[in-house]
Amino acid sequence: MELTGKRIVLGVTGGIAAYKAAELVRLLGRTGAEVQVAMTEGATHFVTATTFQALSGRPVYLDQWDARMPNAMAHIDLSRQADLIVIAPASADFLARIANGMADDLLATMVLARDCPLLVAPAMNRQMWENPATQRNVRQLGEDGVAFIGPVSGEQACGEVGAGRMVEPEDIVEAVIAHFAPKCLAGRKVLITAGPTFEAIDPVRGITNLSSGRMGYAVARAARQAGAEVTLVSGPVAFSPPQGVDRINVRSALDMHAAVLARAADSDIFIAVAAVADYRVANAAEHKLKKDHGGVPAIELVENPDILAEVAALPEGPFCVGFAAESRNLDDYAQAKRRKKNIPLIAGNLIQDGFGGDDNRLVLFDDAGSHPLTPAPKAVLARQLIEHIAKLTGNR
Ligand code: C5P
Repeated sequence: MELTGKRIVLGVTGGIAAYKAAELVRLLGRTGAEVQVAMTEGATHFVTATTFQALSGRPVYLDQWDARMPNAMAHIDLSRQADLIVIAPASADFLARIANGMADDLLATMVLARDCPLLVAPAMNRQMWENPATQRNVRQLGEDGVAFIGPVSGEQACGEVGAGRMVEPEDIVEAVIAHFAPKCLAGRKVLITAGPTFEAIDPVRGITNLSSGRMGYAVARAARQAGAEVTLVSGPVAFSPPQGVDRINVRSALDMHAAVLARAADSDIFIAVAAVADYRVANAAEHKLKKDHGGVPAIELVENPDILAEVAALPEGPFCVGFAAESRNLDDYAQAKRRKKNIPLIAGNLIQDGFGGDDNRLVLFDDAGSHPLTPAPKAVLARQLIEHIAKLTGNR
């Protein structure tokens, strides 16, 4: 799992977003992390320590005089045990206290005594967030090397709308995974296609395929977590873009072709994960086709450009990676495709092993031969693919 063996101390401070910290504990636990919760007194007015104890499977620490630590130094022991301290939600008061180096409760003392990185997810009323005092504290903490995630804009518990909402627990987990991921593509520009394309027959109908976009989005997320600057050209899918990824929405293969070719020359790496329609409708109707007019319509198809092959043929183009979803003869078909498109690396999968699911079975094919990866969730395979790409492009 992504965070197996990582020790995270989650500090919860007083704010209504504290209820979301409960979900955060659950999600972090699912990534394999060991989560130790510590709360301020204020936080206990919103969620009980019992909730966090049940979800983390560990007793929760509430004050610096906790007698459970054999040396009576909860603040030192907790911070020494941590690979990362996450404060979520971080209240305005808490930011003010740690920006000034105060040590007036267990959490603040632990932050001051830490020798590990600190990630904070602020949550407060929008006016409290915009207040010059809070902004000054945020600037100071940034200068002190503290990492921030959020806040975001939206509806607030007080009924107002504005900046100050805590980012969702899923996004905090992503930031934590990104924190620990090796930065093997730091500074590289990576262009990725994902999802299906939609080829219009008329304004309301079209030809598409069952690609969910999950693999392409997982690859985009893994590339971003590896430190790359990621642009994701995406066909119609149901997901939001991963954090920090620049998404360009397209519909048809021709749209995708234009969006990719406008950016390919400026990219270091191009990963074509999209299931691009091989053909589009030549005679797409401007108006909705009517059943009772002129019998069964004839749909004429013309071939779409092969985006990957075109990018691979660019002089001084990016390092190109393709995907091959096959229903049989994976090795032969994938290697043949790799040679035909003249690309250094292709990731093949057998469609019957999962199309649209969370898990996948991938084999990487390059000049050195084939590298089967252990079947795993797409997020894990995506990271292995990114590491393989980083290895192959190491000296470029
Ligand atoms: O040729 P085939 O569709 O089997 O190859 C699959 C690979 O080529 C995928 O990486 C896919 O994203 C890419 N491709 C493309 N443009 C097309 C067809 C496929 O970029 N028109």
